[in-house]
Amino acid sequence: MERSLMLLKPDCVQRRLVGRVLARFEDKGLNLIAMKLMRVTPELARRHYAEHVQKGWYPSLEAFITGGPLVAAIVEGPEAVRVVRDMVGSTNGLDAAPGTIRGDFSTSQQMNLVHASDGPESAAREIEIFFDASEIHAYAPTIRPWLSAPDDD
Ligand code: CDP
Ligand code: MG
Repeated sequence: MERSLMLLKPDCVQRRLVGRVLARFEDKGLNLIAMKLMRVTPELARRHYAEHVQKGWYPSLEAFITGGPLVAAIVEGPEAVRVVRDMVGSTNGLDAAPGTIRGDFSTSQQMNLVHASDGPESAAREIEIFFDASEIHAYAPTIRPWLSAPDDD
């Protein structure tokens, strides 16, 4: 089992796509184990995007990500980090494959609707930035026996 941090970015909230985007992950069978609507501060943005802070486009990214409320969530499931990244698609909505969230809904490099952790280590780091342990509620889904077979594991 893996966990991935997802941010439904301010463009996703403003475009009323939160429900449809979340539905894709629910449909896939991933477990939603934490979620909140929040406003990201510049300090939080710099922590989350630490690897990008020195880039020329960072100030514009910070203005975007702090420019309205977003939805932060954690999903859990087998190979969740890779599975979620594949469902989100390439960074630039113009390049992202049809069928992915960015490919279906975004035509922008920056306003690409969703953030998803790019590896198990970054997932752990990002989850700690956005959530207290008391806000995470893991559970055994009752449909578990119908999501994968015993010999899948
Ligand atoms: O989100 P992802 O991991 O696919 O892309 P990234 O390269 O880690 O960049 C993080 C975020 O910065 C992207 O999702 C875009 O919203 C934004 N970005 C940008 O504003 N301008 C760029 N030239 C590249 C990325
Ligand atoms: Mg990234």
